[in-house]
Amino acid sequence: MTSVAVVGSQWGDEGKGKVVDLLTEGADLVVRFQGGNNAGHTLVVGEETYALHLVPSGILHPGKGALIGNGVVVDPDVLIGEIDALAARGIAVTPANLTVSSAAHVIMPYHRQLDVARERPLPGKGDRAVIGTTGRGIGPCYEDKASRQGLRMGDILLPDRFRARARTAILEKNALFAHLYGLPETGLEELEALRLKWHARLAPYIGDARSPLWEALRLGKNVLFEGAQGSQLDIDHGTYPYVTSSTTVSGGACGGAGAPPKSLDKVLGLVKAYTTRVGEGPFPTEVLGPLGDRLREAGREYGTTTGRPRRCGHLDAVAVRTAAALSGITSLAVTKLDVLRGLGPLKIARGYRLDGGELLCMPLDIHDLARCEPIYSDQPGFDEDISEARRLADLPSGARSYLDALEEHCGVPLGLVSVGPERGETILLEKFF
Ligand code: IMP
Repeated sequence: MTSVAVVGSQWGDEGKGKVVDLLTEGADLVVRFQGGNNAGHTLVVGEETYALHLVPSGILHPGKGALIGNGVVVDPDVLIGEIDALAARGIAVTPANLTVSSAAHVIMPYHRQLDVARERPLPGKGDRAVIGTTGRGIGPCYEDKASRQGLRMGDILLPDRFRARARTAILEKNALFAHLYGLPETGLEELEALRLKWHARLAPYIGDARSPLWEALRLGKNVLFEGAQGSQLDIDHGTYPYVTSSTTVSGGACGGAGAPPKSLDKVLGLVKAYTTRVGEGPFPTEVLGPLGDRLREAGREYGTTTGRPRRCGHLDAVAVRTAAALSGITSLAVTKLDVLRGLGPLKIARGYRLDGGELLCMPLDIHDLARCEPIYSDQPGFDEDISEARRLADLPSGARSYLDALEEHCGVPLGLVSVGPERGETILLEKFF
C-alpha cells in the first residue's frame, strides 16, 4: 500500500531500468509520466537483454498494469515497434495491461525533422547552441504542446480533428522547412496515412490513463512511477539549455500522470556510482583521458537510444544532493558499483568551490556551474569481485567505505545497491512495497 517514484539524480542513464524492473515485482501498476523515446532502459533478465524506450519496464512482469501518462510524448511508430518486439519474445502487451493517455502528445515526423535540423550548422546564420539532443523530436513536440499546436493520442481516434489540427501544425513547420532549413515540406496526406496506420494498431490502447491510477491509489494498491532522464536534465532545474524538455524531478509525476502530490510515499533517487552525461553542457567532475576512457569501457557507457559515447567522470555528490532537495528523495539506489572495481583510487565531489566560497548544491546558472571547482573526498577503491554480495557486510572494505562516503556526502540513506546487471545482483536494504 505504497507509491514509489523512481527518479534519476544525475544526467540520466543511472540504470533505472533494472531498478524499476526489480521494484515492479511488488507493484500493481507502473506509470510513466514524462519524456519519450529519448529514454532507454536496459534490462537483463536471465539470458535476455531488453532495451525499452517507451513502454514502461514493468511490462516484463506478467499481471502488472502499465500506464503511459499525459506528460509523455509518444512516437506511435516506436510504440508499435516495441509492442511487436516484445510480442516476438513472448511478452504480450495488450490493452488489458497497457493504457496510453489520450492526452499524451504525439511525436510527428516534422518534430523529428526539426529536432535534427536545429542541431546542424546553418551556414551564414551565425553560431547556435547545439544541445546534443537524441534527435527523436522530443523538444519540438513539447513546444507544440505548450503552444497548443500539438496533436494528442486521442486525436488519432478522430479523423476530422486530426486533419484540422495537423493542417494548422504544418503551416508553420513548412514555412520553416522551406525558408530556413531547406527541407522538403510535409504534406497533409502523408500525415493522414500515418493516422490510419496508427489507428489500426493503437486505438485499443488509447484512453483514460488517470482513472486507473486514481482507482489504484484509492484502493491502496502499490504504484510505481517510472521517471526517465535525470534531475540535471530537468527543463527548469537542470543545466539549461543543455536539458531535455520535460519535468524529470518527482513533481513531474503530478502534472504528467495526474498523481496528487501527497500520493508519493517514497522517492527513490537513482545514483550511478560515478557520473556520466550525454550531449553538451557543463559537467564539473568530468574526467578526460585514460581514466575517463576506462570508465566508459568498464561501464559500457554508450547510449541505449543513440549509441553515442557518454562523457564520464567522478561521482558528484553535489548533483545528487541537489536532486534530493528537488525531488524529496527518501533513499538512494546506487547502481553499477561493480564497474568501479580496479579503477581506484576514486574520488567523490563533496562540494564545489566558487568565488572563494563553498557550495553544497549546484548553482542554477550554467555560467556559474562552469566555473565551479569540485572539492574531492579521496577514496581507496577496491579490486575484488563484488557481484556475489547480497548484504553490505559481504562487500570488501574499499567498497563499503565508498558507499559510506557516498551516503554521507549525498545526505540521503541507501535503499539498495546494484552490484551487477542481473535482477538478483542487488543488495536490498529497504522494503519498498
Ligand atoms: P532530448 O531529450 O532528445 O531533447 O535531448 C536533450 C538532452 O538530454 C541531450 O543532452 C540528451 O543527450 C539528453 N538526454 C535525453 N534523454 C536522455 C536519457 O535518457 N539519458 C541521458 N541523456 C538524455
